[in-house]
Amino acid sequence: MQTNIIKAIKVSETKNILLLIEDLKDLKKYSLSEKEIDYIRMQKELNNKDFIAINHLNNWILVKFIKKEKEPYLIAEEYRKFGDKILGLINENKIDSINIIDSNGKNSNIALSIAEGMALGNYEFLKYKTEDKDKQNSLKTVSILSDKINIKEIEEVNIIIDATLRARTLVNEPVCYLNAKMLAEEIEKMHKETSVKVEVMNKTKIEALKMGGLLAVNKGSVDPPTFTFLEWKPQKAINAQPIIFVGKGIVFDTGGMNIKQGKNMEEMKCDMSGAAAVASAIYAIAKLNLKVWVIGLIPATDNRPSGNAYVPGDIIKMHNGKTVEVLNTDAEGRLILADALSYAQKYKPELVIDIATLTGAAHAAIGKYGIVAMGAKSDKEMEQLKQSGNNVYERIVEFPFWEEYDELVKSNIADIKNIGGAYAGAISAGKFLQHFVDYPWIHLDIAGPCFNDSKDSYRGNAGTGVGVRLFVDFIKNKEKNKK
Ligand code: BES
Ligand code: MN
Ligand code: ZN
Repeated sequence: MQTNIIKAIKVSETKNILLLIEDLKDLKKYSLSEKEIDYIRMQKELNNKDFIAINHLNNWILVKFIKKEKEPYLIAEEYRKFGDKILGLINENKIDSINIIDSNGKNSNIALSIAEGMALGNYEFLKYKTEDKDKQNSLKTVSILSDKINIKEIEEVNIIIDATLRARTLVNEPVCYLNAKMLAEEIEKMHKETSVKVEVMNKTKIEALKMGGLLAVNKGSVDPPTFTFLEWKPQKAINAQPIIFVGKGIVFDTGGMNIKQGKNMEEMKCDMSGAAAVASAIYAIAKLNLKVWVIGLIPATDNRPSGNAYVPGDIIKMHNGKTVEVLNTDAEGRLILADALSYAQKYKPELVIDIATLTGAAHAAIGKYGIVAMGAKSDKEMEQLKQSGNNVYERIVEFPFWEEYDELVKSNIADIKNIGGAYAGAISAGKFLQHFVDYPWIHLDIAGPCFNDSKDSYRGNAGTGVGVRLFVDFIKNKEKNKK
């Protein structure tokens, strides 16, 4: 169950409290004895502690000294991480609700960041646990007491957290449950709660659309592919042409005939993280009723070897008529994305952003700490997206996209080939995709930050839901700036 954030009207002294203070005198109003205040002073002044936990008989008083010496987005991140960090103490002590008190009325934003970090960090994927059910996290509610906070602001954060955790759950589901068809069904189910239009195109439709990339990757599979279309078109939208998100939906990537070796395959259920981010971000955008026309496109299939799987040397014809020489069946993501990007042209979009677990090279280059980006005709939007990247701390690193790299995907026998050379692997993947776009476009490679092999603060273990908070912040700011 999701940890809920609520606004407190008042907090009784017997509750579990997290007191945010800037100065010892902010402590006076609360149920602490002289001795305890002395203890807090000593911990702060002698031991340089800025977090002190006091265990009363029936409740905890946690005291946090707030420092604001960095840029706002760095402060927000520091306190999200702090929120996650104190979950240990909270859950160990079976605390089910905690009350954050903004004691001097100057730290409502920080209170909200702490609550966000707690709610995101408290996520657990327990569907397949039959044992240890009693070891579930105890925390259910985080309330915030602050004059400066309003309920709408809190509700927004709850919606964005909900969407992020839905994306994580989709990523965490293994392919034995979540094949392409089930992914589409889960997306339909999620959007029963919104008024987003969802249309799932089946294999026959995909064949009629001549999506040669998606069909080629699907050839080795016993399950049919899907192509899911989502549309949020509010009345009085600020944009005359849609913003389109395209998410890679490889529900499992074995590599195909170029099968992955060793541990490289272990985490490949994460290869639909882009799809999960698109469906979930649009879920939040709709629930927040943002006045921005948004479309989502999700091509999906697994990538497997079999008697009739596509092989290196195959030449395939894509949705836009271009021919591709397949030289590695493990470079499958760009093939299914290319068809979706080409399909997007018919909407004459204002902007298209694709998000994909596309290359190990992106992961190798910057690790899990950020998102690799490239773009064309989208300088202004790239700056706005980088700003959102900082706000939500899913930071964006723009890679060079010089025309010299175009060489890398030229083919002797077809228009282009699906792999580049030994170097600049993330960029050659981007260059491949560029053959399918004619509009302002940003490509995001999330191979690094999509999945953790151990808990990374509030981003959690396994699927992180990266991209959801980023896209929602980006669209929210679009709306704000146009109004
Ligand atoms: N899904 C992988 C990329 C990936 C790697 C995602 C690690 C998440 C974590 C992608 O389909 C892939 O296999 N890419 C190949 C491309 C290569 C064959 C040109 C890669 O990066 O090795
Ligand atoms: Mn692959
Ligand atoms: Zn892949």
